[in-house]
Amino acid sequence: MTQLVGLDVGTTGVKALALSPAGDVLARAEETYELSMPRPGWAEQDPEDWWRAAERALARLGGGATAIGLSGQMHGLVVLDDRDRVLRPAILWNDQRTEAECAEIEERIGLSRLIQLTGNRALTGFTAPKLLWLRRHEPATYARIAHVLLPKDYVRLRLTGEHAIDVADASGTLLFDVARRRWSEEMIEALELDPAWLPRTLESPEISGTTAAGTPVAAGAGDQAAAALGVGVDRPGPVSVVLGTSGVVFAALPAFAADPQARVHAFCHAVPGGWHAMGVMLSAAGSLRWLRDSLGTGRGYDELTAAAEEWAPGSEGLTFLPYLTGERTPHADPHARAAFAGLTLRHDLGAFARAVLEGVAYGLRDSLELLRELGVDPRAGHASGGGARSELWLRILASVLGLPIRRTATDEGSAYGAALLGGVAAGLFRDVHEAAATCVRLLDTVEPDPRWSAAYERGYRRFQLLYPALRPLEDS
Ligand code: XUL
Repeated sequence: MTQLVGLDVGTTGVKALALSPAGDVLARAEETYELSMPRPGWAEQDPEDWWRAAERALARLGGGATAIGLSGQMHGLVVLDDRDRVLRPAILWNDQRTEAECAEIEERIGLSRLIQLTGNRALTGFTAPKLLWLRRHEPATYARIAHVLLPKDYVRLRLTGEHAIDVADASGTLLFDVARRRWSEEMIEALELDPAWLPRTLESPEISGTTAAGTPVAAGAGDQAAAALGVGVDRPGPVSVVLGTSGVVFAALPAFAADPQARVHAFCHAVPGGWHAMGVMLSAAGSLRWLRDSLGTGRGYDELTAAAEEWAPGSEGLTFLPYLTGERTPHADPHARAAFAGLTLRHDLGAFARAVLEGVAYGLRDSLELLRELGVDPRAGHASGGGARSELWLRILASVLGLPIRRTATDEGSAYGAALLGGVAAGLFRDVHEAAATCVRLLDTVEPDPRWSAAYERGYRRFQLLYPALRPLEDS
């Protein structure tokens, strides 16, 4: 039987899906691992954990893959020696240690030239600043680097023996000429890095290699491009809205376009010849996870969202800023901090939970407004990610964004999109558009609630006032 397997190397675990050529989910498996935060603002994982989890997840699907597609957390730095041995734990997308290196890059290249060359500015999560950090702080490790990979590409190396990356994920390294879809020699030279370290680049549906059993492995895509494909955002139209550890509003673009100040990311899409823009919030469903784990109440997500349902929109003025790990869009500020503001004696755990759901929705509204400035004018959002399982969260999101939000048959958007790329690589579909049209099933639509819109307009204005008001605290 034909089985298209999507493997998503995420922040909390590896998700694996097996699809039929019609897009039905035949099997799913998830294997989790830990996130290590050895110092404030740092986030690391052991690449060996990803590989062990990938092996276990693939084994649980029962074998028999016709093709495999990969997706994964973007930007993370994996460094290997000349025998492909991992030199240190991977430094992840939500790690904030590279502020000085980002300033150095923007200084050295000049902000407008940097945006011309890469479509983006230097953000702490991106890969190139991590390499500069290693050069400065761990010179012995740096001296042994022979290969640089991103997280899912390490899993590819173990699966196929190949050093390769897709153009969508390469876009988030700051070493990639996104408009021309190739490594930027000028960037690599300006940062005095060795071009031989970098893997070969492929378009997402191209075959990157085969497993020991002879199964073709598609290049795949960074998790956001794969998620967009997995919810049918392969062309300009609806936006992809992701409530994963991170939160994303993602628009496919008709042509390459970068915001002049690079407040949103301009990256290659997983569609050959396609580009996208997106705003990325660092702690979306990650904020709800934090609430669940940190307050020690033992309540699960369903109990928390049921308690949140008891509160009216706006949570009686309780506002949450979701900057638990600093923030990327719209503030590009590793020192941004989360806060609850507006507490009264009446507020309880349910109010905290509702304020978290609302604060994440307000942060995503910030990204949507920036995309609108680029000319994106969506009529709907297609949702994925673990948070999309919550009906209440989708209703809040629809009302805050002022957009109908459509659910899809699976919330594992990234793994689903990766499986579709595997299907194109294996020749089952002519291209990614045919794969998406054949397989992606849109379900019901959650409409904005007109009774909530006034409260959420007020709430959003309050939210916007809070970051500039609280920011000076971090410098004092
Ligand atoms: C995208 C980003 C995050 C990670 C999460 O730019 O950094 O969405 O990819 O896995």
